[in-house]
Amino acid sequence: MTTDELKALIRTVPDFPSPGIQFRDITTLLGHGAGLAATMKHLAKAAELAGAEVIAGMEARGFIFGTGVAVELGIGFIPIRKPGKLPIKTIGVDYDLEYGTDRLEIDPAAIAPGQRVVMVDDLIATGGTALAAADLLRQAGGIVEQALFVIDLPELGGAEKLRSAGVTVDALMA
Ligand code: PRP
Ligand code: ADE
Repeated sequence: MTTDELKALIRTVPDFPSPGIQFRDITTLLGHGAGLAATMKHLAKAAELAGAEVIAGMEARGFIFGTGVAVELGIGFIPIRKPGKLPIKTIGVDYDLEYGTDRLEIDPAAIAPGQRVVMVDDLIATGGTALAAADLLRQAGGIVEQALFVIDLPELGGAEKLRSAGVTVDALMA
């Protein structure tokens, strides 16, 4: 399937979770077998080209696509979690979202020093989530030069912010 066909499988819901937000809902894409498989294949090809040794995904929607890509490539997956979920001593970063604030945490031992990590998530908006994730992965010793998304919302400037932090951003659609 082409990325235009995949785009047609994603619905936009106005004013969720707060007034003024145009929410890109991937539920409809996830429910479409061929669309879901094609999305994983497009992302996996890009991750392979970027030399991914391990994939990292941000809770929750990044877990879906990140794990799919890791399975496609036969490599491991690092869960970047919302606070208080991991049963060990974590490192964490607080960050701002298009509609609030949040925190991400990882197990610093999940990455081997110098390992090439490719980040995968469903969507980049302000880039707050992805920047926090890159920061954490780098603190843990990972090399983070590539992030992959299904959707980029370029008007929110996230991709540009990531590029300024040394992370190349690719997305299947805007
Ligand atoms: C959404 C989305 C990205 C992030 C993008 O996750 O899945 O992770 O927002 O926004 P940003 O570029 O402005 O940081 P959300 O925090 O809503 O959590 P969810 O995956 O649990 O739905
Ligand atoms: N995460 C941040 N902004 C979003 C949006 N507009 N749609 C879906 N997920 C989002």
